[in-house]
Amino acid sequence: MKGKILVVCYSYSGKTRRIAEMIEKLTGGRLSRIYPRQPYPSDFEQLLSQVKKENETGALPALLPVTESADKYDIVFAGSPNWCGTIAPPLAAWLKENDMAGKTLLPFFSHCGGEDKGMEQAVRNFCPAAKAGSSLYVLENGRQDLQDLVQKWLEETLPEE
Ligand SMILES: Cc1cc2nc3c(=O)[nH]c(=O)nc-3n(C[C@H](O)[C@H](O)[C@H](O)COP(=O)(O)O)c2cc1C
Repeated sequence: MKGKILVVCYSYSGKTRRIAEMIEKLTGGRLSRIYPRQPYPSDFEQLLSQVKKENETGALPALLPVTESADKYDIVFAGSPNWCGTIAPPLAAWLKENDMAGKTLLPFFSHCGGEDKGMEQAVRNFCPAAKAGSSLYVLENGRQDLQDLVQKWLEETLPEE
């Protein structure tokens, strides 16, 4: 695999983070997490209502300026939980802030088996000029299958040169 690799992810409860850490381990890329300036509520009903509102209005959260920018990288893995069928707003905000033109963009998602209303498309819409690779979908944190799942996806997806 050729090129500098960045792995970014937003993870609310740690499952997407586990997938990101596996990608980091298997690719030797740099892992950098995304944090909203204002953490999301810990109460599920409040969280759900905020996420639904953000999805309806397209409002994106301000982010803490701690996440690596995509500038120096050629291949970007971008991860998010499935939130109400789409990507979590913090990942959307990061994608919007970063110029991905010409970079290879590989999305990965954690979900609980519910509806996907087009998570991959949501990523593509923010980064139309990126080179698209196929996405990885993992149920929760992948449990004991995670390494195999990620390994297989990397073999199928990563550009050889
Ligand atoms: C507000 C909210 C909305 C969710 N909506 C969906 C959904 O529509 N479909 C689905 O499969 N999972 C949904 N989930 C479950 C998460 O995608 C799943 O638990 C994921 O593994 C969490 O990843 P994380 O630990 O990185 O945050 C939702 C979770 C939350 C908190």
